[in-house]
Amino acid sequence: MKSRILENLRKNEGPVSGQALSEQLGISRVSIWKHIQQLQAFGYDIISSAKGYRLKSSPDVPYPWEFTGRESKIIYHEQLSSTMEVAKQLARKGCADFTTVIAGRQTSGRGRLNRQWFSDEGGLYFTMVLRPDLPPVFSFRVGFLASLTLARLLNQIFKIEVRVKWPNDLLVNERKICGMLSELEAEADRVAFINMGIGLNVNNDPSPIEPTATSLKMILGHNVSKKEILFRYLDLFETQMQSAAYDDVIEQWKQYTVTLNRHVRVVTTRDVFTGKAIDVDETGALVLKCSDGSLKTIHYGDCFHQSH
Ligand code: BTN
Repeated sequence: MKSRILENLRKNEGPVSGQALSEQLGISRVSIWKHIQQLQAFGYDIISSAKGYRLKSSPDVPYPWEFTGRESKIIYHEQLSSTMEVAKQLARKGCADFTTVIAGRQTSGRGRLNRQWFSDEGGLYFTMVLRPDLPPVFSFRVGFLASLTLARLLNQIFKIEVRVKWPNDLLVNERKICGMLSELEAEADRVAFINMGIGLNVNNDPSPIEPTATSLKMILGHNVSKKEILFRYLDLFETQMQSAAYDDVIEQWKQYTVTLNRHVRVVTTRDVFTGKAIDVDETGALVLKCSDGSLKTIHYGDCFHQSH
């Protein structure tokens, strides 16, 4: 109901009477008034006058009712330890495909290789529970599709040059703006779920903790809407997942990457490798040419770009 009330108020610049809302939405004026009071408590600036209700501004918070059509699959908390933890519990209990857990901030945000992910207010932190009909060997494609889709969307909305770094980071001018973490559980020959966690620096400033990181606000010089980015991303990514878009995702991803033909240092759980990144193979692994001429194929790790 909140999403329908907001939709109505947003369509009209002037005030909308309680009577008109009640007739259009088929609930009593008292119920309308109660919903309006709740929306005000959630930070919506709704002016109430003798002529009716007028929406002056909305908070930039991804409340479920802002996601028309997917309200029941959006779980938002102002603060969580990590969206990965909540998403894992929901996934194991059988929640629907594309259930999305979002946090305003995280107290124990996690990065790859057990690092911390700095998650203060202003960033966008979410985990999608995905249930693709895929054999586990192809699951890596989902991460490549997730990063490529977000890079393209940010380029399109903000006209900035977002590029992908192996495996799933997004960079702008060589600075990290987004990281992704995926967790998979599989049954014998099919994926049960892939939880894709995304941390995007939007209106926060990560640079005091991560000097090589950046955010949309630092690049653009002003705040942007987290809610809108997420809304558009979920729609776009879900459409891509339903199409065969990920059959040639590695080829497409290569058009957007700044990792290939670079000297890199790759840290895995056990080793550190250096060399020239010459390819990403059809399994998503990075192929390095080491200084002795040998080739090394790396399936998972953290990649640091060195010189060109
Ligand atoms: C990385 O680059 O190391 C991956 C960072 C992933 C961070 C996101 S934020 C939302 C989700 N919850 C977490 O605790 N981590 C991921």
